[in-house]
Amino acid sequence: MSDFKVSDILLSKGNARSIIDIDELSVEELDKIIKRACDIMENPKKYSKACEGKKLATLFYEPSTRTRLSFEAAMMELGGNVLGFSSASSASVSKGESVSDTAKVISCYADIIAMRHPYEGAPLVAAESASIPLINAGDGGHAHPTQTLADLLTIYREHGRLNNMVIGLCGDLKYGRTVHSLIKAMIRYEGVSFVLISPRELSLPAYIKTEVLEKNNVTFAETTSLEEAIPKLDILYMTRIQRERFDDLDEYERLKDSYVLTKSKLAAAKESMSVLHPLPRVNEISVDVDDDSRACYFKQALYGKFMRMSLILSLLEGSAGTIREKVTAQDKKKPKCRNPKCISQIEQELPQRFKIGTDACTRCAYCDNLIESN
Ligand code: NCD
Repeated sequence: MSDFKVSDILLSKGNARSIIDIDELSVEELDKIIKRACDIMENPKKYSKACEGKKLATLFYEPSTRTRLSFEAAMMELGGNVLGFSSASSASVSKGESVSDTAKVISCYADIIAMRHPYEGAPLVAAESASIPLINAGDGGHAHPTQTLADLLTIYREHGRLNNMVIGLCGDLKYGRTVHSLIKAMIRYEGVSFVLISPRELSLPAYIKTEVLEKNNVTFAETTSLEEAIPKLDILYMTRIQRERFDDLDEYERLKDSYVLTKSKLAAAKESMSVLHPLPRVNEISVDVDDDSRACYFKQALYGKFMRMSLILSLLEGSAGTIREKVTAQDKKKPKCRNPKCISQIEQELPQRFKIGTDACTRCAYCDNLIESN
């Protein structure tokens, strides 16, 4: 009999550290990830075999250009291989498979997973079943930690610091998951304040205002006017209006052109201000801004690849991330999460799970949505 035990491989959670949102990384860990990304940029050869023999699975249930391809390029530049799918229709979910089963199966084929899903909390559910590390590559309108890594490196390279910044977040702050994760990261640095620029209908979710900004005594202001905010800003973070997340397309039509950054609006900004955008852009930054020295969004896409390389290394060596166990307990007393985009809405076998926020409100553990008591 050989020593090879299939059951051990299937059951072992081993080094299965995962990243679902950016606040799982401490400032020290973020620092290390940034430093290593800078080293990778300067000494690519040193890392070109770091993941030799390892495989990254990209499980993308929702469209993506930058995130998926930058993950794949990152793994290739580390000497590893990639496999995966780029739409839900080409995966077994179209036959009714749960994310949890998919995660168990992919754990047999790969060494690390990057997962994007239109339902909020899906990567968390997958991470609890996977026996290999898993990275949330964007879940619905909830979180997008690796875009935040790209944003942090961009700010750091452009300004030489992450503290003492006035950050303007402009556009769809309700559904823009990149904004949610960026706020959670930047509140940890001294002297950071925010100007939230959005139509009232697309303002930042209440849980981020109370649980993240107010709880941490972070200064923020809200306005509907980009022109009014722009002169004060060190960073202007533009976002697109997220058409695919609207239930009411008439509302999307009404709001879609709310903000367009043009060269003339940029004239009122500081010379040192940086314009960031997670991309894709629709029309919220006019192309005549692209050759302005303050436009950083294409560099930001490049920085994202180096940060993903650095994060993959940290997760594989087990120096960052959270080890998660599957939770099966069902809280029968609490009502169901009503967020139509929560993974618990489509996967009936999942237990309803809750957490109590510091505001004493009950929230869904998958999607952070407020749970009403009746
Ligand atoms: C963002 C995303 O997918 O959330 N894009 C990205 O990852 N680069 C932003 C967006 O789609 O608007």
